[in-house]
Amino acid sequence: MEGSARCSPEELLEFIRSRRSIRRYKPDKVPIDLVKKIIDTTRYAPSAGNRQPWVFIVVEGEVKDKLAELHKWAWPLKEAPLGILVACDEKTSPVTYHVDCANAAMYIMLAAHALGLGTVWLNTLRVVDEARKIVGLPENYVPIALLALGYPDEKPEPKHRKPLDEILFLNKYGEKL
Ligand SMILES: Cc1cc2nc3c(=O)[nH]c(=O)nc-3n(C[C@H](O)[C@H](O)[C@H](O)COP(=O)(O)O)c2cc1C
Repeated sequence: MEGSARCSPEELLEFIRSRRSIRRYKPDKVPIDLVKKIIDTTRYAPSAGNRQPWVFIVVEGEVKDKLAELHKWAWPLKEAPLGILVACDEKTSPVTYHVDCANAAMYIMLAAHALGLGTVWLNTLRVVDEARKIVGLPENYVPIALLALGYPDEKPEPKHRKPLDEILFLNKYGEKL
């Protein structure tokens, strides 16, 4: 995606549509410079009042594997060479910290996709205390998203999406556009 001026609008939209959750990864390491590039880009995610209430913890090795055991759907992190925990300071943004952090997580997923890397969002919201403990997060930080990151070793088909006419309205709920 570098030099986006060279991409047509259709190519950019197709790029967004072509992201998939990746759960199988090659063993290849992800260069730390790429991780930094992803997070550097993520800093541009929107947040209420531009408060940027987030921190990002890159996890590898034992810490990563402990997080992969948080619940039965977190196993893809074991497969991945590393993970990124997105945590939000609820004191800084008490009303919007969840959505601010979801934006950041989405930026990570798209930036990784642009660099040929795969991600999958692993839920942390049912295991907040456990996740916090593993990475030593202070109490005011809520682990909002855990992303596995690595080079894809699968090419999943697109998942079903609801059709537009089921979800798109004009002015009032139920009135089709
Ligand atoms: C908040 C959230 C929690 C998710 N939790 C998990 C999870 O714990 N394990 C997992 O394998 N996928 C998880 N996913 C990924 C979804 O299953 C996936 O995004 C969805 O099926 C659509 O597939 P796609 O991302 O390939 O388009 C999560 C996604 C979101 C947004």
